[in-house]
Amino acid sequence: MKEKLEQMRVTARDAMEAAGTEDLLQDVRVRFLGKKGDLTAIMKGMGRLTSEERPVVGALANTVKSELEGLFEARLKTVREAEIGKRLEQERIDVTLPGRRLSQGTKHPITLVTEEIVEIFSSLGFGVAEGPEVEKDFYNFEALNLPKDHPARDMQDTFYISEDVVLRTHTSPVQIRTMLRQAPPVRVIAPGTVYRRDSDLTHSPMFHQVEGFLVDRNVTFGDLKGILTTFIAQFFGKNIGVRFRPSFFPFTEPSAEVDMQCVICGGDGCRVCKNSGWLEILGSGMIDPEVFKAVDYDPEAYSGFAFGMGLERIAMLKYGVNDLRLFFENDLRFLKQF
Ligand code: PHE
Repeated sequence: MKEKLEQMRVTARDAMEAAGTEDLLQDVRVRFLGKKGDLTAIMKGMGRLTSEERPVVGALANTVKSELEGLFEARLKTVREAEIGKRLEQERIDVTLPGRRLSQGTKHPITLVTEEIVEIFSSLGFGVAEGPEVEKDFYNFEALNLPKDHPARDMQDTFYISEDVVLRTHTSPVQIRTMLRQAPPVRVIAPGTVYRRDSDLTHSPMFHQVEGFLVDRNVTFGDLKGILTTFIAQFFGKNIGVRFRPSFFPFTEPSAEVDMQCVICGGDGCRVCKNSGWLEILGSGMIDPEVFKAVDYDPEAYSGFAFGMGLERIAMLKYGVNDLRLFFENDLRFLKQF
Protein backbone atom coordinates (compact mmCIF):
# COMPACT_ATOMS: atom_id res chain seq x y z
CA MET A 1 0.00 0.00 0.00
CA LYS A 2 2.83 2.31 0.78
CA GLU A 3 4.13 1.80 -2.73
CA LYS A 4 0.70 2.41 -4.21
CA LEU A 5 0.47 5.68 -2.25
CA GLU A 6 3.95 6.76 -3.35
CA GLN A 7 3.12 5.93 -6.94
CA MET A 8 -0.14 7.85 -6.78
CA ARG A 9 1.66 10.80 -5.22
CA VAL A 10 3.96 11.00 -8.25
CA THR A 11 1.24 10.43 -10.89
CA ALA A 12 -1.08 12.97 -9.27
CA ARG A 13 1.67 15.53 -9.00
CA ASP A 14 2.57 15.11 -12.66
CA ALA A 15 -1.07 15.28 -13.69
CA MET A 16 -1.59 18.52 -11.79
CA GLU A 17 1.51 20.06 -13.32
CA ALA A 18 0.25 19.04 -16.76
CA ALA A 19 -3.30 20.42 -16.33
CA GLY A 20 -3.23 23.75 -18.15
CA THR A 21 -6.75 24.99 -17.43
CA GLU A 22 -8.96 25.20 -14.35
CA ASP A 23 -11.35 22.60 -15.80
CA LEU A 24 -8.59 20.06 -16.43
CA LEU A 25 -7.15 20.74 -12.97
CA GLN A 26 -10.53 20.10 -11.31
CA ASP A 27 -10.76 16.82 -13.23
CA VAL A 28 -7.36 15.80 -11.84
CA ARG A 29 -8.46 16.67 -8.30
CA VAL A 30 -11.62 14.57 -8.60
CA ARG A 31 -9.67 11.68 -10.07
CA PHE A 32 -7.17 11.51 -7.20
CA LEU A 33 -8.72 13.25 -4.18
CA GLY A 34 -12.46 12.94 -4.87
CA LYS A 35 -14.90 10.70 -2.97
CA LYS A 36 -14.57 8.07 -5.65
CA GLY A 37 -10.98 8.96 -6.42
CA ASP A 38 -7.77 6.95 -6.24
CA LEU A 39 -6.87 7.95 -2.67
CA THR A 40 -10.22 6.80 -1.32
CA ALA A 41 -9.86 3.55 -3.21
CA ILE A 42 -6.43 2.91 -1.67
CA MET A 43 -7.61 3.78 1.83
CA LYS A 44 -10.38 1.19 1.54
CA GLY A 45 -7.65 -1.45 1.75
CA MET A 46 -6.54 -0.18 5.20
CA GLY A 47 -8.69 -2.81 6.92
CA ARG A 48 -6.46 -5.55 5.69
CA LEU A 49 -3.34 -4.06 7.30
CA THR A 50 -1.77 -5.14 10.54
CA SER A 51 -2.12 -2.87 13.55
CA GLU A 52 1.56 -1.90 13.24
CA GLU A 53 1.30 -1.02 9.57
CA ARG A 54 -1.96 0.86 9.81
CA PRO A 55 -0.80 4.09 11.61
CA VAL A 56 2.24 4.32 9.35
CA VAL A 57 0.21 3.99 6.17
CA GLY A 58 -2.48 6.22 7.64
CA ALA A 59 0.07 8.93 8.38
CA LEU A 60 1.53 8.64 4.88
CA ALA A 61 -1.93 8.82 3.33
CA ASN A 62 -2.64 12.03 5.25
CA THR A 63 0.68 13.52 4.19
CA VAL A 64 0.03 12.65 0.54
CA LYS A 65 -3.49 14.01 0.78
CA SER A 66 -2.52 17.35 2.29
CA GLU A 67 0.46 17.64 0.01
CA LEU A 68 -1.70 17.08 -3.06
CA GLU A 69 -4.36 19.47 -1.75
CA GLY A 70 -1.72 22.11 -1.22
CA LEU A 71 -0.34 21.50 -4.67
CA PHE A 72 -3.84 21.70 -6.10
CA GLU A 73 -4.48 25.11 -4.47
CA ALA A 74 -1.16 26.41 -5.69
CA ARG A 75 -1.74 25.16 -9.24
CA LEU A 76 -5.28 26.55 -9.23
CA LYS A 77 -3.93 29.97 -8.42
CA THR A 78 -1.31 29.80 -11.18
CA VAL A 79 -3.77 28.50 -13.79
CA ARG A 80 -6.35 31.16 -12.93
CA GLU A 81 -3.79 33.92 -13.17
CA ALA A 82 -2.61 32.58 -16.50
CA GLU A 83 -6.17 32.52 -17.80
CA ILE A 84 -6.84 36.08 -16.67
CA GLY A 85 -3.56 37.15 -18.23
CA LYS A 86 -4.51 35.51 -21.48
CA ARG A 87 -7.92 37.18 -21.51
CA LEU A 88 -6.46 40.59 -20.78
CA GLU A 89 -4.02 40.09 -23.61
CA GLN A 90 -6.77 39.10 -26.04
CA GLU A 91 -9.14 41.87 -25.04
CA ARG A 92 -6.48 44.53 -24.92
CA ILE A 93 -7.56 47.91 -26.25
CA ASP A 94 -4.93 49.98 -28.02
CA VAL A 95 -5.82 53.47 -26.87
CA THR A 96 -3.25 54.93 -29.23
CA LEU A 97 -5.13 53.75 -32.35
CA PRO A 98 -6.51 56.68 -34.37
CA GLY A 99 -10.32 57.13 -34.09
CA ARG A 100 -12.74 56.38 -36.91
CA ARG A 101 -13.57 59.58 -38.72
CA LEU A 102 -17.16 60.48 -39.55
CA SER A 103 -17.22 61.86 -43.04
CA GLN A 104 -18.33 65.47 -43.04
CA GLY A 105 -20.69 66.94 -45.62
CA THR A 106 -19.81 69.93 -47.75
CA LYS A 107 -21.88 72.85 -48.91
CA HIS A 108 -23.40 72.67 -52.36
CA PRO A 109 -21.57 74.91 -54.87
CA ILE A 110 -24.77 76.91 -55.45
CA THR A 111 -24.97 77.55 -51.69
CA LEU A 112 -21.31 78.60 -51.63
CA VAL A 113 -21.84 81.03 -54.50
CA THR A 114 -25.03 82.45 -52.91
CA GLU A 115 -23.27 83.01 -49.61
CA GLU A 116 -20.34 84.75 -51.22
CA ILE A 117 -22.59 87.04 -53.29
CA VAL A 118 -24.68 87.91 -50.21
CA GLU A 119 -21.50 88.68 -48.31
CA ILE A 120 -20.12 91.01 -50.98
CA PHE A 121 -23.40 92.90 -51.32
CA SER A 122 -23.82 93.09 -47.54
CA SER A 123 -20.50 94.88 -47.39
CA LEU A 124 -21.94 97.35 -49.93
CA GLY A 125 -24.92 98.03 -47.64
CA PHE A 126 -27.52 95.66 -49.19
CA GLY A 127 -29.97 93.71 -47.04
CA VAL A 128 -31.44 90.33 -47.97
CA ALA A 129 -35.10 89.79 -48.94
CA GLU A 130 -37.07 86.75 -50.01
CA GLY A 131 -40.31 86.05 -51.80
CA PRO A 132 -42.54 83.06 -52.58
CA GLU A 133 -41.71 80.62 -55.37
CA VAL A 134 -45.40 80.20 -56.15
CA GLU A 135 -46.20 83.72 -57.24
CA LYS A 136 -49.10 85.79 -58.41
CA ASP A 137 -49.11 86.85 -62.03
CA PHE A 138 -49.29 90.43 -60.75
CA TYR A 139 -45.86 90.33 -59.04
CA ASN A 140 -44.14 88.12 -61.59
CA PHE A 141 -45.37 90.02 -64.67
CA GLU A 142 -47.96 92.73 -64.43
CA ALA A 143 -46.32 95.07 -61.92
CA LEU A 144 -43.02 94.61 -63.77
CA ASN A 145 -44.49 96.33 -66.82
CA LEU A 146 -45.35 93.03 -68.49
CA PRO A 147 -49.11 93.30 -69.02
CA LYS A 148 -51.08 90.24 -70.15
CA ASP A 149 -50.51 89.57 -73.84
CA HIS A 150 -47.30 91.60 -73.80
CA PRO A 151 -44.96 89.96 -76.31
CA ALA A 152 -42.09 90.10 -73.81
CA ARG A 153 -43.80 87.34 -71.83
CA ASP A 154 -42.62 85.01 -74.57
CA MET A 155 -39.10 85.49 -73.28
CA GLN A 156 -39.96 83.31 -70.34
CA ASP A 157 -41.72 80.01 -70.72
CA THR A 158 -43.89 79.92 -67.68
CA PHE A 159 -45.25 77.11 -65.50
CA TYR A 160 -48.82 78.12 -64.74
CA ILE A 161 -50.50 76.88 -61.56
CA SER A 162 -53.73 78.60 -62.58
CA GLU A 163 -54.71 81.51 -64.77
CA ASP A 164 -53.43 83.90 -62.13
CA VAL A 165 -50.74 81.96 -60.29
CA VAL A 166 -47.34 80.89 -61.63
CA LEU A 167 -44.06 79.41 -60.51
CA ARG A 168 -41.99 82.58 -60.53
CA THR A 169 -39.86 82.80 -63.67
CA HIS A 170 -37.35 85.19 -62.09
CA THR A 171 -36.56 86.83 -58.75
CA SER A 172 -37.74 90.25 -59.99
CA PRO A 173 -41.16 89.94 -58.23
CA VAL A 174 -39.23 90.41 -54.97
CA GLN A 175 -38.56 93.97 -56.18
CA ILE A 176 -42.30 94.62 -56.26
CA ARG A 177 -43.02 92.93 -52.92
CA THR A 178 -40.21 94.84 -51.22
CA MET A 179 -41.13 98.24 -52.64
CA LEU A 180 -44.78 97.77 -51.75
CA ARG A 181 -43.72 97.05 -48.18
CA GLN A 182 -41.25 99.85 -47.60
CA ALA A 183 -40.60 103.41 -48.70
CA PRO A 184 -37.33 104.40 -50.41
CA PRO A 185 -34.41 104.34 -49.97
CA VAL A 186 -34.01 100.57 -50.47
CA ARG A 187 -30.97 98.46 -51.10
CA VAL A 188 -31.80 94.79 -51.31
CA ILE A 189 -30.59 91.54 -52.81
CA ALA A 190 -32.90 88.54 -53.15
CA PRO A 191 -31.50 85.08 -53.80
CA GLY A 192 -33.95 82.34 -54.73
CA THR A 193 -35.19 79.49 -56.85
CA VAL A 194 -36.93 80.20 -60.15
CA TYR A 195 -38.67 78.04 -62.77
CA ARG A 196 -38.90 77.99 -66.54
CA ARG A 197 -40.10 75.40 -69.02
CA ASP A 198 -36.66 74.78 -70.37
CA SER A 199 -34.50 71.69 -70.16
CA ASP A 200 -31.33 70.95 -72.08
CA LEU A 201 -27.53 71.03 -71.71
CA THR A 202 -27.47 74.60 -70.46
CA HIS A 203 -31.01 74.99 -69.07
CA SER A 204 -32.72 73.41 -66.11
CA PRO A 205 -36.46 73.86 -65.39
CA MET A 206 -35.50 74.88 -61.86
CA PHE A 207 -32.53 77.12 -61.27
CA HIS A 208 -31.29 79.93 -59.02
CA GLN A 209 -31.04 83.67 -59.34
CA VAL A 210 -29.94 86.59 -57.26
CA GLU A 211 -31.87 89.79 -57.76
CA GLY A 212 -30.48 93.11 -56.60
CA PHE A 213 -31.87 96.62 -56.63
CA LEU A 214 -31.30 100.02 -55.18
CA VAL A 215 -33.68 102.99 -55.08
CA ASP A 216 -32.86 106.43 -53.77
CA ARG A 217 -32.74 110.04 -54.87
CA ASN A 218 -30.33 110.77 -57.74
CA VAL A 219 -29.32 107.20 -58.50
CA THR A 220 -27.67 107.08 -61.91
CA PHE A 221 -26.46 104.52 -64.40
CA GLY A 222 -22.98 105.35 -63.10
CA ASP A 223 -24.01 103.91 -59.70
CA LEU A 224 -25.23 100.75 -61.43
CA LYS A 225 -21.90 100.39 -63.24
CA GLY A 226 -19.91 101.11 -60.10
CA ILE A 227 -21.71 98.55 -57.93
CA LEU A 228 -21.66 95.77 -60.54
CA THR A 229 -18.02 96.37 -61.50
CA THR A 230 -17.06 96.28 -57.83
CA PHE A 231 -19.02 93.06 -57.33
CA ILE A 232 -17.44 91.30 -60.32
CA ALA A 233 -13.93 92.36 -59.30
CA GLN A 234 -14.46 91.02 -55.78
CA PHE A 235 -16.11 87.82 -56.90
CA PHE A 236 -13.98 86.85 -59.91
CA GLY A 237 -10.78 88.82 -59.38
CA LYS A 238 -9.60 92.39 -59.81
CA ASN A 239 -8.24 92.16 -63.33
CA ILE A 240 -11.18 90.63 -65.12
CA GLY A 241 -12.55 92.78 -67.96
CA VAL A 242 -16.21 93.89 -67.77
CA ARG A 243 -18.42 95.45 -70.45
CA PHE A 244 -21.96 96.78 -70.50
CA ARG A 245 -23.97 96.00 -73.61
CA PRO A 246 -27.32 97.65 -74.45
CA SER A 247 -30.28 95.31 -74.06
CA PHE A 248 -33.99 95.26 -73.30
CA PHE A 249 -36.10 94.32 -70.30
CA PRO A 250 -39.68 95.61 -69.87
CA PHE A 251 -38.97 96.59 -66.24
CA THR A 252 -35.77 98.57 -66.84
CA GLU A 253 -34.98 101.52 -69.11
CA PRO A 254 -32.26 101.80 -70.25
CA SER A 255 -31.22 98.18 -69.90
CA ALA A 256 -27.84 96.53 -70.19
CA GLU A 257 -26.47 93.06 -70.18
CA VAL A 258 -23.15 92.69 -68.46
CA ASP A 259 -20.40 90.57 -69.95
CA MET A 260 -17.13 89.66 -68.38
CA GLN A 261 -13.94 88.46 -69.96
CA CYS A 262 -14.03 84.70 -70.49
CA VAL A 263 -12.51 83.06 -67.41
CA ILE A 264 -11.67 79.93 -69.43
CA CYS A 265 -9.52 81.47 -72.20
CA GLY A 266 -8.81 84.88 -70.66
CA GLY A 267 -10.48 86.64 -73.60
CA ASP A 268 -8.67 84.95 -76.48
CA GLY A 269 -11.76 83.05 -77.61
CA CYS A 270 -12.71 79.45 -76.91
CA ARG A 271 -15.60 76.98 -77.07
CA VAL A 272 -17.16 78.23 -73.82
CA CYS A 273 -17.38 81.88 -74.95
CA LYS A 274 -18.14 80.83 -78.55
CA ASN A 275 -14.90 82.52 -79.63
CA SER A 276 -16.06 85.97 -78.57
CA GLY A 277 -13.79 86.25 -75.54
CA TRP A 278 -16.80 87.44 -73.48
CA LEU A 279 -19.39 85.75 -71.27
CA GLU A 280 -22.77 87.22 -70.41
CA ILE A 281 -23.36 87.04 -66.67
CA LEU A 282 -26.28 89.27 -65.79
CA GLY A 283 -29.13 91.49 -66.89
CA SER A 284 -29.57 94.98 -65.46
CA GLY A 285 -30.92 98.45 -65.98
CA MET A 286 -32.47 101.55 -64.49
CA ILE A 287 -35.84 100.71 -62.96
CA ASP A 288 -38.61 101.71 -65.38
CA PRO A 289 -40.92 104.53 -64.18
CA GLU A 290 -43.86 102.22 -64.94
CA VAL A 291 -42.61 99.89 -62.18
CA PHE A 292 -42.38 102.79 -59.72
CA LYS A 293 -45.98 103.70 -60.55
CA ALA A 294 -47.12 100.13 -59.80
CA VAL A 295 -45.63 100.31 -56.29
CA ASP A 296 -46.56 103.93 -55.67
CA TYR A 297 -43.04 105.36 -55.69
CA ASP A 298 -42.73 108.85 -57.18
CA PRO A 299 -40.68 108.48 -60.40
CA GLU A 300 -39.95 112.22 -60.35
CA ALA A 301 -38.34 112.04 -56.92
CA TYR A 302 -36.66 108.64 -57.06
CA SER A 303 -34.57 106.60 -59.41
CA GLY A 304 -32.93 103.22 -59.06
CA PHE A 305 -31.29 100.30 -60.74
CA ALA A 306 -31.89 96.56 -60.72
CA PHE A 307 -30.02 93.49 -61.83
CA GLY A 308 -30.52 89.74 -61.92
CA MET A 309 -28.05 86.94 -62.40
CA GLY A 310 -28.22 83.18 -62.82
CA LEU A 311 -26.30 81.38 -60.10
CA GLU A 312 -25.66 78.11 -61.95
CA ARG A 313 -23.94 80.04 -64.69
CA ILE A 314 -21.89 82.04 -62.19
CA ALA A 315 -20.91 78.85 -60.33
CA MET A 316 -19.89 77.20 -63.62
CA LEU A 317 -17.59 80.12 -64.40
CA LYS A 318 -16.22 80.40 -60.89
CA TYR A 319 -15.40 76.70 -60.48
CA GLY A 320 -14.79 75.76 -64.13
CA VAL A 321 -17.74 73.35 -64.30
CA ASN A 322 -18.73 72.54 -67.89
CA ASP A 323 -22.10 70.83 -67.40
CA LEU A 324 -25.05 72.49 -65.69
CA ARG A 325 -26.67 69.16 -64.83
CA LEU A 326 -23.89 68.34 -62.36
CA PHE A 327 -25.48 70.86 -59.97
CA PHE A 328 -28.73 68.88 -59.85
CA GLU A 329 -27.60 65.26 -59.98
CA ASN A 330 -26.18 65.29 -56.44
CA ASP A 331 -23.35 62.92 -57.31
CA LEU A 332 -21.17 62.86 -54.19
CA ARG A 333 -18.02 62.53 -56.31
CA PHE A 334 -18.86 65.96 -57.71
CA LEU A 335 -20.16 67.59 -54.52
CA LYS A 336 -17.21 66.50 -52.39
CA GLN A 337 -14.86 68.62 -54.49
CA PHE A 338 -16.19 71.84 -52.96
N1 PHE B 1 -35.31 89.24 -64.39
C1 PHE B 1 -34.41 89.22 -65.50
C2 PHE B 1 -34.25 87.78 -66.00
O1 PHE B 1 -34.63 86.88 -65.33
C3 PHE B 1 -33.07 89.76 -65.11
C4 PHE B 1 -33.09 91.19 -64.72
C5 PHE B 1 -33.32 91.58 -63.43
C6 PHE B 1 -32.91 92.20 -65.68
C7 PHE B 1 -33.34 92.91 -63.05
C8 PHE B 1 -32.90 93.52 -65.34
C9 PHE B 1 -33.14 93.89 -64.05
O2 PHE B 1 -33.72 87.55 -67.07
